[in-house]
Amino acid sequence: MSTLAVYPGSFDPLTNGHVDIIARGARLFDRIIVAILLNAEKAPLFSVAERVDIAREVFKGRPNVEVDTFDGLLVDYVERRHAQVIVRGLRAVSDFEFEFQMALMNQRLNSNIETVFMMPAEKYTYISSRLIKEVFSLGGRVSGLVPDLVEERLREKPEAQPIGAGVKDKR
Ligand code: PNS
Repeated sequence: MSTLAVYPGSFDPLTNGHVDIIARGARLFDRIIVAILLNAEKAPLFSVAERVDIAREVFKGRPNVEVDTFDGLLVDYVERRHAQVIVRGLRAVSDFEFEFQMALMNQRLNSNIETVFMMPAEKYTYISSRLIKEVFSLGGRVSGLVPDLVEERLREKPEAQPIGAGVKDKR
């Protein structure tokens, strides 16, 4: 039997921490679906279509990585896709409490689905999508922390630019 995993999240934007977890998942499981939650945040920086486009481009050389969207309960989506595993990344102890709650709630909702926690490479343990957006919007460098394509898209996005960009831009 082949094992199919779902790696759910907002990915607004995709970071190198996510990419690292996906690469590890793609080695461990036969196939991994990067599942982008629809309508999670009221005002995301990137639309779902943009996030799908970025992820598809980043993983286009990896045949066992699929990019999809989902709505509603995660466990229902996992079941619909005939997947057996939910992958979540754990960066630090601070992630654990919420992740533990989610894993147990998902287990209660569907006990056939297992949550597997994976640790990214240590150099990515402090990265989050929220910090990337904040640092970029204040003129800080994010290269090496996100795929090059994400950096490019951040530069193109007016909402992501620092106030007075071009004057004190240190990037
Ligand atoms: O990138 P994020 O914001 O940490 O991802 C959170 C996500 C998408 C995994 C979580 O919000 C989720 O699964 N939402 C779908 C709705 C659902 O199933 N909620 C109950 C989870 S216990």
